[in-house]
Amino acid sequence: MTGRSKVSLTEFIDLLACPDCGRGVSRDDNVRCPGCKRTFEILDGICVDLMPAKKFARRRGGVVENRSIDCYNRLFDEPFRRVEDPSPWGLSVPENYRKKLKKHIYMLNKLIPEHIGSFCDISAGSGRFSWEIAVKSKTAVLCDISVDSVCYLTKKSIEKKRTNIFIARCDYLKPPFKKDIFDVVLCNDTLISGRDHEKKLLAAIYDVLRPGGSAILDFAYLYHRGFWHLPHSVAYSRREMIDMLEETGFRVDKYLPLYHELSNDPEEKRVTSKLLKCILPPTRYIFRVFK
Ligand SMILES: C[S@@+](CC[C@H](N)C(=O)[O-])C[C@H]1O[C@@H](n2cnc3c(N)ncnc32)[C@H](O)[C@@H]1O
Repeated sequence: MTGRSKVSLTEFIDLLACPDCGRGVSRDDNVRCPGCKRTFEILDGICVDLMPAKKFARRRGGVVENRSIDCYNRLFDEPFRRVEDPSPWGLSVPENYRKKLKKHIYMLNKLIPEHIGSFCDISAGSGRFSWEIAVKSKTAVLCDISVDSVCYLTKKSIEKKRTNIFIARCDYLKPPFKKDIFDVVLCNDTLISGRDHEKKLLAAIYDVLRPGGSAILDFAYLYHRGFWHLPHSVAYSRREMIDMLEETGFRVDKYLPLYHELSNDPEEKRVTSKLLKCILPPTRYIFRVFK
């Protein structure tokens, strides 16, 4: 345990708003919306199922967009229940990806502030990018639409006795939070499903950030892609990334190129890394933006 003080469920519920009508919610045995009268189930005292009543309708498009819509529909329809042996996104990592993952986490952490009041990972998966950030925040909310993911994170928080971490099963396209509440929002490896999706998600992140708060976001880089790449995600040029961020209203503070090819040299101090950086396109760009 760190020196973080216990945050009560009531304090967490205070951050929430109904994903359907936007009213602040209250608590008895469950969480209730006084506006539309919906009830939201609580699991193990730290995880709340805050899914909206209806799916967010997205236009179908190319292969990647359509796959992401099908995946969203499937995850949306999953009933909320306890999964005993959950298997969230990102929990098992192939051997040849470990160093790349370590490098990605290292680069991302360069942009994370030292002290965080309220923190939200809007698409946490297994929490592999956000767990340590959540631990050092005063209050942390780890979100995901996947039932496996929220069950895994709930179990881990309880086992590790993390009394400042709460879990929300939610749809980031209709986030169940009041406006202007988080100091830092993380959105990693998720702005990869096409412009309509990215714009809606960026607007949702903007809404829940407090004025002056920062978001740490990444995009796949278009020019890292060769003909050998399978279309598993949508990638953008740096100009397109910046345009999407600025059109949302963010001020771009800093961006770091992430070179997966330089995973053996996390700090990129070797001469060979410095030379390679002059000719290699980065794999991704990681941004820090302010509201
Ligand atoms: C590519 S994974 C990235 C997970 C994590 N950020 C990481 O970098 O390891 C995307 C995550 O977003 C979640 N997700 C997809 N659509 C979502 C939605 N509409 N609302 C909330 N989470 C969603 C998925 O379940 C998955 O865990």
